[in-house]
Amino acid sequence: MLQTDIDTLLEQARQQVGTAADLDTLDQCRVAWLGKTGSVTTQLKALGALPPEQRRQAGQRINALKVELQDLLNARREQLHDQELDRQLQHERVDISLPGRQRFQGGLHPITRMRNRMVDIFTSLGFQVADGPEIEDDEHNFEALNFPAQHPARAMHDTFYFPDGKLLRTHTSPVQIRAMREQGIPLRVIAPGRVYRSDSDQTHAPMFNQLEGLLVDENISFADLKGVLQQFVDCLFERHLEMRLRPSYFPFTEPSAEVDIAWQQRDGSNGWLEVLGCGMVHPNVLEYCGVDSERYTGYAFGMGIERFAMLRYGVKDLRQFFENDLGFLEQFA
Ligand code: PHE
Repeated sequence: MLQTDIDTLLEQARQQVGTAADLDTLDQCRVAWLGKTGSVTTQLKALGALPPEQRRQAGQRINALKVELQDLLNARREQLHDQELDRQLQHERVDISLPGRQRFQGGLHPITRMRNRMVDIFTSLGFQVADGPEIEDDEHNFEALNFPAQHPARAMHDTFYFPDGKLLRTHTSPVQIRAMREQGIPLRVIAPGRVYRSDSDQTHAPMFNQLEGLLVDENISFADLKGVLQQFVDCLFERHLEMRLRPSYFPFTEPSAEVDIAWQQRDGSNGWLEVLGCGMVHPNVLEYCGVDSERYTGYAFGMGIERFAMLRYGVKDLRQFFENDLGFLEQFA
């Protein structure tokens, strides 16, 4: 092969390789020159036919050509490869500035939180949790709690009745009856739960939550009741709060009282705020439950859970607890 032929072939090769638009075209070039029957391979095979004195030089020239062609092909292959990669990167780019998927953090409802808190305090004082049905009968909700059949105290309760005479319990006090009958004396229970009254405004909802307390044993006095309530209130609000007991009336306790706590008003002064009802269990109630009222005495109390949640969390409108507004609820998560 003459040097001029080699130069021409190289010249053509540079052009072809330089304009090869993809890896396929490039491979076709390689086969045409360096493949089994490619032009350069054929030349190499033909070397044997040359006279020995020319063979060496021709062999060197063709081998040099072969190396040069290979270098050309490799360089272009790399180029095309990089181009392809660039194109892919452009195409498949991930926009890392897009906002991610939101994950919402759930939380306990403020009423649930307050209920748990109250239950924790009373269980640490030795009370056990008891419960009863929300659909009650007249006997447990009124009769056994010493509300006589036509007594006006029933009217205060705005009761929801079912056609069969059953009712939605208007307070958690019927659990007192169930606990005394089921567990006997001595007894020390609390009963958190939903209660219902046909009443609705800024401070009243047709459904709300109460926590009932009942302790019956020998030698239980009003002083025990007052002590437990003071401890409870101080523990709940994590500071000592002045407490006042006002004489009141409930058919199932005698004497009865309403409890006020000293609460700071908006102008900075303290005002009395009613937070619960309580009293010594009425002997009639003990007897209704088969408890010897000569031997045993007890105290009971009942309080609204929403009431305490409003005070503790600074909620002004009771209805917010039932609207399920996420903006409101998320503040407690
Ligand atoms: N059950 C009464 C109410 O709902 C509260 C209470 C409970 C009062 C226990 C005294 C003793 O108003």
